[in-house]
Amino acid sequence: MSPLISLRKVSKWIGGEQILKDIDLDVFKGEFLSVVGPSGSGKSSLLYIMGLLDRPSSGEVFFGGYRVDFSEDRVISELRNRRIGFVFQFHYLIPELTALENVMVPLMKTVSRAEAERRAKDLLSLFGLKGKEHRKPYQLSGGEQQRVAVARAVANDPDVILADEPTGNLDSQNTEVVMDLLMDLKKRGTTIVMVTHDFNLASRADRIVEIVDGRIRS
Ligand SMILES: Nc1ncnc2c1ncn2[C@@H]1O[C@H](COP(=O)(O)OP(=O)(O)OP(=O)(O)O)[C@@H](O)[C@H]1O
Ligand SMILES: [Mg+2]
Repeated sequence: MSPLISLRKVSKWIGGEQILKDIDLDVFKGEFLSVVGPSGSGKSSLLYIMGLLDRPSSGEVFFGGYRVDFSEDRVISELRNRRIGFVFQFHYLIPELTALENVMVPLMKTVSRAEAERRAKDLLSLFGLKGKEHRKPYQLSGGEQQRVAVARAVANDPDVILADEPTGNLDSQNTEVVMDLLMDLKKRGTTIVMVTHDFNLASRADRIVEIVDGRIRS
């Protein structure tokens, strides 16, 4: 199998502190990888770099076999829009938009408005949010907001879903809804990288990578 994302000697410094240290990691096409590790160990920072939302201080990032040149803004945003779905640890829904409109945002860049609305509605139903499409994020519970965020990440059928604690705010039933969806996407060939504190969830992945103090522990 060929890697979809490769990191080579990736390091990140913030304010004189090194938070990622010489990370070498391949994420293979179609695999479900979990990332575990203590709070503050660098999991979110690592995921941002894999999702091309942040650039490393040193080292190289490859996506689909090509070296990512972080100076090419247009190429980076095209990759992010079409090929990467990101679920943030603190969901970051747009507060002024309804649930439906939030899910439509990435879709509007690739399909017509009518098609975007149809797909966004279907996804929200799948996530048990039927009837709540027109609510703003503040009118939804934390778990409901998290599900809208997952729907938004998967809307464009990306090659890879990078999910940072996607079930962090969910009860066990909704955790299952989200995990089943991720497993289904994996069956259909989507590559998944999921950060979690929950070892039971992590163990459902094909492979687990542990980050301790900014380094991969092998
Ligand atoms: N913008 C920033 N400015 C300063 N320090 C930062 C910044 N972002 C992250 N850090 C620091 O980098 C380290 C790694 O943070 P990161 O968010 O990647 O951890 P994490 O493993 O995701 O933790 P958690 O499990 O709590 O989400 C932490 O020590 C954090 O304080
Ligand atoms: Mg984090």
